[in-house]
Amino acid sequence: MKQYTLVTGACINTGVAIVEKFAAEGRSVIFTGRSPEKVATAQARYREKYPDVDILGYAIDSLLDERTVDEASVEKLFAWLDSQEIFIETLVLNAADQGLGITALENPLTDFMKVLNTNVVWNYCLCEHAVRRMKEQGGGNIVFVNSNTAYRAIPDRIAYVASKGGQLGMMRGMALDFGKYNVRVNAVLPGMIRTDRWEKNPDFYATVPSRYTPIGDVADGADIADAVWYFAACARNTTGAELVVDGGNTIQLYPIIPKDESLERTGGST
Ligand SMILES: NC(=O)c1ccc[n+]([C@@H]2O[C@H](COP(=O)([O-])OP(=O)(O)OC[C@H]3O[C@@H](n4cnc5c(N)ncnc54)[C@H](OP(=O)(O)O)[C@@H]3O)[C@@H](O)[C@H]2O)c1
Repeated sequence: MKQYTLVTGACINTGVAIVEKFAAEGRSVIFTGRSPEKVATAQARYREKYPDVDILGYAIDSLLDERTVDEASVEKLFAWLDSQEIFIETLVLNAADQGLGITALENPLTDFMKVLNTNVVWNYCLCEHAVRRMKEQGGGNIVFVNSNTAYRAIPDRIAYVASKGGQLGMMRGMALDFGKYNVRVNAVLPGMIRTDRWEKNPDFYATVPSRYTPIGDVADGADIADAVWYFAACARNTTGAELVVDGGNTIQLYPIIPKDESLERTGGST
């Protein structure tokens, strides 16, 4: 069997940095996205940049509808991998429904279910299929790209926060149950990552990093990719672990307000 790393949701943003890190290390990679066109474009870009590495794109959706995970499409993916004699030794669960625009007490329950189904149930389904093969092959590892919102809530994102908290609990449960198959399961917990969404919001970018992180900066995709790589390739004796990559965001009690602004707010003067 040929060994590959599978990275979900890797046509844009953090997923791209993860694929590129593994490709730069010489690993064969399969990545997923939901749109065949976006997958084809990303695959062409990866192949141009890493001509000596095997990088394959695969279009897959997570949901049949808001209520039901598309288990048949996951079965189809793994049947295809089996037919190609491809073994997923490392599974990186990066894709996520961000759960944006869901207002508590207003949106239908199915909006909440969609986020939970993608971020928890679909990921469980991928893990089930991957771990059956890892067990047969003598081991493997899984890395969740989770979030520091699993520890601390952010406003207007109840579904997302619940899904990342649930995902983190699921990671620990899997680490416990799959250790006997020599399968390690770990999670990277990013805070804010610079993505295409930041470029659409320059005012936010100008003030937020310095106030919300003691080191005054947010992560690049490459910072997250390095942490994923650590779990996948350098952490033989680590399972059930969490690596927070958030510039220290989670450890502060309240944002750092520049002195002159805090004085303005309280009406004080120097
Ligand atoms: N960005 C941040 O500031 C931040 C902070 C903390 C944690 N994180 C976590 O880090 C990871 C990467 O973040 P990101 O901002 O780079 O992600 P992103 O661009 O928002 O999403 C990654 C990919 O997930 C796929 N996706 C979205 N909804 C999906 C669904 N219902 N089913 C299947 N795939 C779906 C999309 O791929 P396609 O459209 O191509 O299918 C999307 O490109 C995520 O797990 C996120 O929760 C991000």
